[in-house]
Amino acid sequence: MEEIQLIELKPEDTQRASELAATAREIWTEHYTPIIGAAQVEYMLDKFQSAEAILRDISSNGYRYFIAYNGQKQAGYFAIKPDYDAGGLFLSKLYIKKSYRGFGISRLMLNKQILIAKENKLSHIWLTVNKNNNSVKIYRKLGFEVVEEMVTDIGDGFVMDDYRMKLTIQA
Ligand SMILES: CC(C)(COP(=O)(O)OP(=O)(O)OC[C@H]1O[C@@H](n2cnc3c(N)ncnc32)[C@H](O)[C@@H]1OP(=O)(O)O)[C@@H](O)C(=O)NCCC(=O)NCCS
Repeated sequence: MEEIQLIELKPEDTQRASELAATAREIWTEHYTPIIGAAQVEYMLDKFQSAEAILRDISSNGYRYFIAYNGQKQAGYFAIKPDYDAGGLFLSKLYIKKSYRGFGISRLMLNKQILIAKENKLSHIWLTVNKNNNSVKIYRKLGFEVVEEMVTDIGDGFVMDDYRMKLTIQA
């Protein structure tokens, strides 16, 4: 593996966005189908992780996407959204391709998120994660704590049954 580079996706970068949508499809299909079923995975990919949805989130909805590259190959990605009213950084997405897991890439990503939170004077990072997701224990290792349980209606009869987790940033 080469040194992993984190590159921010820019709104005009449609080629990179298409590659990212394919990366998301690969990871989500493999990871989420056993947890929430194929129909909900397909629905969520179309709604949230198509190239168009990703670029719209960047240009209109305040999200920033960063892609981890191993040379020219995408290894994973994360998406964040600063919430200045709540004083926190929302970690909306964090996904690593299976073959790249366990090498510390998510820790590298977390360091970048902490840097961005500090630059924006935000006191914490928060996320939601499915209660049955193995990543809950990885997030705990990274320093996140469960702060509440939440059920979110995402339409078409689907709900997300999640924990809200939070990492306080040391000044
Ligand atoms: C969660 C995920 C992003 C973690 O990425 P990663 O690059 O494999 O994680 P890292 O290698 O940086 O490991 C982070 C920490 O978790 C620990 N960890 C990694 N995999 C673990 C596992 N399967 N079980 C327990 N701990 C684990 C590591 O030891 C490390 O802790 P340390 O630095 O104290 O040693 C990745 O596993 C993933 O994409 N999973 C599937 C998709 C997903 O669930 N995403 C989150 C959706 S909310």
